[in-house]
Parts: sequence; structure tokens; C-alpha cells
Amino acid sequence: PNEVHRVRNLNKVIFGEYEIEPWYFSPYPIEFIEEDEIYICEFSLQYFSSKYQFQRFRKNYCMRHPPGNEIYRDEKFSFFEVDGRQQRTWCRNLSLFSKLFLDHKTVYYDVDPFLFYCMTIRDEYGHHLVGYFSKEKDSAEGYNVACILSLPPYQRFGFGKVLIDFSYNLSKKENKVGSPEKPLSDLGLISYRSYWRDILVEYLMEKVGQNGTTTIEELSSATAFTTQDILGTLQALGMLKYNVGQYIVCLTDAVVKTYNERKKKKLHRIDPTKLLWKPPV
Ligand code: COA
Ligand code: NA
Repeated sequence: PNEVHRVRNLNKVIFGEYEIEPWYFSPYPIEFIEEDEIYICEFSLQYFSSKYQFQRFRKNYCMRHPPGNEIYRDEKFSFFEVDGRQQRTWCRNLSLFSKLFLDHKTVYYDVDPFLFYCMTIRDEYGHHLVGYFSKEKDSAEGYNVACILSLPPYQRFGFGKVLIDFSYNLSKKENKVGSPEKPLSDLGLISYRSYWRDILVEYLMEKVGQNGTTTIEELSSATAFTTQDILGTLQALGMLKYNVGQYIVCLTDAVVKTYNERKKKKLHRIDPTKLLWKPPV
């Protein structure tokens, strides 16, 4: 039976204006699996087996943003904080939907211990969900992200890194370091490695300077990354030299070149002054 459950079971999902092809199995009720396509309301995340049912539902459902508080808004994105205990159905629907794009995670029916940080893009119609991450309210392992997802139509536009940037901004407000829950998927690992590299190189170039010195501890308190993630990133970039009992961080020519190229790209960053949030007590 486990084998059967790993097989992708839905062909097509209509979500807002998008048709999305699922990647993996997700335990939607059996009567939905038999349909060629299912409809998911992009605001309530409720699912329907026919267009008729979906449209009938939409007539009466008017909320056009995720439930919960809007805790961040800049010129492009908003973030809503949704409490799994207070919005159980919505968060279960979100977990069910995201399982379609996650191979290795189990679906969290028990959403109560999590907060969901949902990123949206605004237009005149409403706040459209583009991605989210979940976070345990109290992680014994110090994880600051449990699950992270950019909806497939929105992948590879740099949004994943904005989600990651947001998660570290929350950790900074908590005065904690954080790291994503393991194991990460391949795409998750690629994204995190690239983000850690961006931020560390930026800090070294802009705050430390090519002839300056720093410590792993300083990098950690500036970024909210764990020392382990920092060491791993610097090592992979060949930026870590071990000398007389201590690590020395060196900017290589290749890293400086990458920094200058990335600088031109104008990456979107979270503006910490726009984050209206206090750590839950
Ligand atoms: N192939 C190769 N590289 C990829 C990639 C792909 N399919 N998708 C993203 N990347 C790279 C990007 O090039 C970028 O690196 P760069 O800046 O050095 O070029 C980096 O990963 C981040 O890309 P970005 O556009 O910011 O991320 P995204 O919006 O595509 O979201 C994930 C990244 C991981 C959230 C997204 O792939 C996803 O939702 N995957 C399914 C769920 C999952 O696996 N989550 C993680 C485990 S919980
Ligand atoms: Na819709």
C-alpha cells in the first residue's frame, strides 16, 4: 500500500487563473482522485470536483486574502501570519495542496503546532498566494522553517529567496539563529545554499571589506544563520582557511566576481522596517 501512495494521483489542478500539474501524491479524498481535474479556490483553498460546484461556492465566498494578520507589506509583497490552531481547515487545505509538490514530507493534519507565513501579490482583485513557509511555534531543534513552497507558476522568479529572507527576519526579531528543518528537498537545498551565499558574500563585501577581518560568530549574529550553515557555505565556496588553530575567512576572486554580477540583478529583499511583528509569547 505504501508504494501506491507514492504515485501521483491527480492530473490537473485549476487554481486561480492557473492550471497546475501536480508532482506527487497527496491524500485528497478518493472521489476527487477520479476526476480529470479538480478546482481549488485560491483564497479559501477548498477543493471541488467540478467547475459548477466551484463557481457556486465562489458566489458566496468573498474573502480575497489569506486568513490571519497582514504583518508585512512592501511595494510588491504582503505576508500574512496564519495560526494553525485558529485556522485549522485553511491550514489543512494548504498542507494538502502543498503535498502535491513535496515528496518527502508527511501531510500535517495536526496543524495546531504551526504558524504559516503566507506571501501574496496584490492586484485590484485581491491578495494572491504565491508561496508560504510553515514554522513550528516551539521548535526543540531550533528550526525556523518546517516546510517552504513557491507555487509552481511562481517558481524561479526569486520568490523562494524572498520567503527565506522573511524567515531569517523573523529569527532576527526573536534574537535567535535558525535553520530549515531537515531533510531538505533538492530544490530546497539549492535555494538555501544560494541564499546563504548571497547574504554572506554581501555582508563580507559591504560590511567587512576585502582587507577587514571577521569571525563566524559575528557573521552568525548579523545574519541569524547557524554557525554550521555558515561554515558549510564558506567551505563550499573555498573561502575558509584554517590557520594556527583558527578559521580565517577569505574572499576569493571568483566570489568577488559573482558578487559584482549579482549586484546588478536587483534582488528583492525584505525591508525589516516594514515587518510589524513581535515574537509570540
Ligand atoms: N533548477 C535549478 N535551480 C533552481 C530551480 C530548478 N528547478 N529552482 C530554483 N533554482 C535555484 C534558482 O536558480 C536560485 O538560485 P540562483 O539565485 O543562484 O540562481 C535558487 O534556486 C532560488 O530560486 P528562487 O526563484 O528564489 O526559488 P523558487 O521560488 O523557485 O522556490 C523552492 C524555491 C524550493 C521553494 C521551490 O522550488 C519549491 O517550492 N519546491 C517544491 C517544494 C520544496 O521542495 N520545498 C523545500 C523543502 S520543504
Ligand atoms: Na479562485
